[in-house]
Amino acid sequence: MKLAPSLLNADFADLRRAVSYIEGLADAVHLDVMDGNFVPNITFGPLVVRAVRKITRLPLDVHLMIAHPAEFVEDFAAAGADWISFHAEVTRYPGEILGMIRGYGKRAGMVINPQTPAHSVFDYLELCDYVLVMTVMPGFGGQAMIPEALEKVGEIKREAARLGLQVEVEVDGGVKTENLARVREAGADIVVVGSSIYAAPDPRRAAEEIRRLLDS
Ligand code: DX5
Ligand code: ZN
Repeated sequence: MKLAPSLLNADFADLRRAVSYIEGLADAVHLDVMDGNFVPNITFGPLVVRAVRKITRLPLDVHLMIAHPAEFVEDFAAAGADWISFHAEVTRYPGEILGMIRGYGKRAGMVINPQTPAHSVFDYLELCDYVLVMTVMPGFGGQAMIPEALEKVGEIKREAARLGLQVEVEVDGGVKTENLARVREAGADIVVVGSSIYAAPDPRRAAEEIRRLLDS
């Protein structure tokens, strides 16, 4: 499984150091963009993505928790995002936004909240490089995982296989060393890990432990 640490709980006064903790261990950097509208929290926008772009060569996995993603795809693509995902809950026309993202040469993803059924993305799987399955309600790091949401990973993998499509499934929220095996059993291709790494006393050691478990 690939590892995409989330910087949401990192020390934003020293992002260079925060990213250094995961170099050599992570497959991507997960950047949680929040607009205070779709979710009750505000984090950062293209400016911070552009700053992180300058300090790492890792793919930037940009998770848009915003009400109007179509209006910002160009800005995040220009800022250096490599993977751009948006929430199925904010639009009736996800195909258009997925096409926009791919139009900028980026990997396109749809995100579904814990209460959103897997079949919400089935009609768009041919336009998705990946689907991000939330195992917490979006807005904050450090929450406990909602394990029932993991069932959707298998549902999406099976539907993609039925359609003969290569779609990765990423799991995001509450992933810890204790539940990593369960996430793997569910069939995830990519895991997002935030507070388990960045709220740990030694983030580098925490990331090394997660990497060791992923590779075991
Ligand atoms: C929550 C974000 C998640 C979160 C993951 O809205 O999408 O990426 O930061 O953090 P942990 O691993 O602490 O749940
Ligand atoms: Zn996220």
